[in-house]
Amino acid sequence: MNPNHRSFLANPRIIAMVLLSALPIPPCASAAEQKGDAAPGQKIFAERCQKCHGEDGSGNTDFGKALGAADLRSADIQKKSDAEFYELIEKGKKNMPPFEGTLSKTEINGLIVYVREIGKKQSDEKKQ
Ligand code: HEC
Repeated sequence: MNPNHRSFLANPRIIAMVLLSALPIPPCASAAEQKGDAAPGQKIFAERCQKCHGEDGSGNTDFGKALGAADLRSADIQKKSDAEFYELIEKGKKNMPPFEGTLSKTEINGLIVYVREIGKKQSDEKKQ
């Protein structure tokens, strides 16, 4: 009898377990990535921007009306470039607070994708 027989049989199982537990990406994370960054942007928007800009981006909230928050769906806002949005979110503008240091570059970029989504939704509704 080969004394190593037992461990030889056990090894492939151990290897398989190690491989399975080391799978790096949980399925839900990869699904979010495939959508582009709009989904994480939506979450940050709800946490950081919604109280002034409203869920739909209209600015039709108590805060938004008091401070004069822009309607993010308007053509005037949507015609601005991503770079302009980036700078605005980072540095702020009049009553719009700056988010530099609070939000990462990735988070700000996610927000820009989401602000574009808000604009698209509005023009889709107009077409119908
Ligand atoms: C405290 C209220 C407040 C919060 C919170 C806030 N905003 Fe604003 N935002 C404003 C106001 C007020 C304006 C209008 C600024 C002005 O006078 O032009 C504005 C303007 C904007 C504009 C248009 C700016 C332009 O170029 O004319 C964008 C885009 C925008 N906000 C995005 C965001 C995003 C994204 C967030 C979340 C990270 C956010 N805002 C959070 C108040 C707010």
